Amino acid sequence: MRETSFDRSKLQVTLLEGIHGDAELRFQEHGYSNLTTYSKGLSAAELLELAPNIHFLGIRSRTQLTSEFFQRAQKLVAVGCFCIGTNQVDLDAATAQGVAVFNAPFSNTRSVAELVLGELILLLRGIPEKNALAHRGVWQKSAKDSYEVRNKRLGIIGYGNIGAQLGVLAEAVGMDVAFYDVVPKLPLGNASMVHQMETLLETSDVVSLHVPANDATNNLIDAAKLKIMKPGTILINASRGTVVDIDALTAALKAGRIGGAALDVFPVEPKSNQEAFESPLQEFDNVILTPHVGGSTQEAQVNIASEVAGKLIRYSDNGSTLTSVNFPEVNLPEHPGQHRILHVHRNEPGILTQINKIFSNEKVNITGQYLQTNPILGYVVTDVAQAQGVSALEQLKSIPGTLKARILF
Ligand code: NAI
Repeated sequence: MRETSFDRSKLQVTLLEGIHGDAELRFQEHGYSNLTTYSKGLSAAELLELAPNIHFLGIRSRTQLTSEFFQRAQKLVAVGCFCIGTNQVDLDAATAQGVAVFNAPFSNTRSVAELVLGELILLLRGIPEKNALAHRGVWQKSAKDSYEVRNKRLGIIGYGNIGAQLGVLAEAVGMDVAFYDVVPKLPLGNASMVHQMETLLETSDVVSLHVPANDATNNLIDAAKLKIMKPGTILINASRGTVVDIDALTAALKAGRIGGAALDVFPVEPKSNQEAFESPLQEFDNVILTPHVGGSTQEAQVNIASEVAGKLIRYSDNGSTLTSVNFPEVNLPEHPGQHRILHVHRNEPGILTQINKIFSNEKVNITGQYLQTNPILGYVVTDVAQAQGVSALEQLKSIPGTLKARILF
């Protein structure tokens, strides 16, 4: 059943950069018929021109949303980043305008895990090297240094979404899965948690990195760590390019200490497909180099479209902000037969009191109220008996510090 009955066709939804068609379908299914899609990004000037009329905006990684854009986009309710990262959005500016920003942190988890599994199988068999030789006319039919994955130990560093998913897949092909994480994690299946990263490095046949890029993970795998790995260990990095010291890895490969490697991410990556890619690792046949495509599959695109459109629709229809990257998170029940009033404000003392004073003066019967704050924003959601909230809405908008106020019914 539809949760609200406000006129969604009045809300302008703009989707840029060729976002997968499933996003459009999701909006249409939920009554958002005022929808414009663009197969490419827009220039900064075009975007600024459209800004004042957009209620919901979908972008991918190329569209830069600046502070100037947010200042002009006074009707904007939320932005959906149909990708993982949100660096392209001035989040401070979005927050200052009370615009919620969503992304798709899990949609390509499976794609990355599958790629890593495929790579480790190939590397343990020495296939990248044999493939390269065969391309050059060399027939190297030999079982030397060629291993099954069954009963080999996979050491996962960073047991988050991708690391844990990889562990499950690797167990299915008979690997012994162990992981190290800075946060205690529930081991899935038969995986075991290792408390020291060094222990994991010393005992694993394959080491796969799935940590975020931050100060603590910068050159996490350096010369010292490579040295303690078992001779012949396979190293895989599909996380972020800064996590591996490339010079140290080059030296370890030259010395034959590392059995092979697969890298999908690099400290410096070309900004477009037109730019050349250079790496000292290009000289090694036993290294798989891929252009940051770990998460790039058709399935991931579909998942991203559905996940992010779903989050925007849920925020619009129901007020829930679960997994927003800049908003206080509120996971709200449905509100059949009620009006729901959403009030987004700067996190300043006394606003909740002022909100409730208005409800009290208007003799509004509150049936449920939810408040969440982060250091910058306060978000108050109030369910009221049907048809009672409309009169209060304009007054709520005039409370100093208010950024947005909406009513769902
Ligand atoms: P996540 O946030 O779910 O998991 C990261 C895990 O690393 C967490 O469990 C965290 O506690 C742990 N961690 C943080 N610092 C650590 C440290 N110093 N040592 C050990 N563990 C540490 O992230 P998710 O989604 O699994 O992504 C993992 C990485 O993969 C990220 O860097 C992400 O940017 C990257 N990624 C790469 C893609 C590609 O195309 N190659 C696509 C998607 C994600």
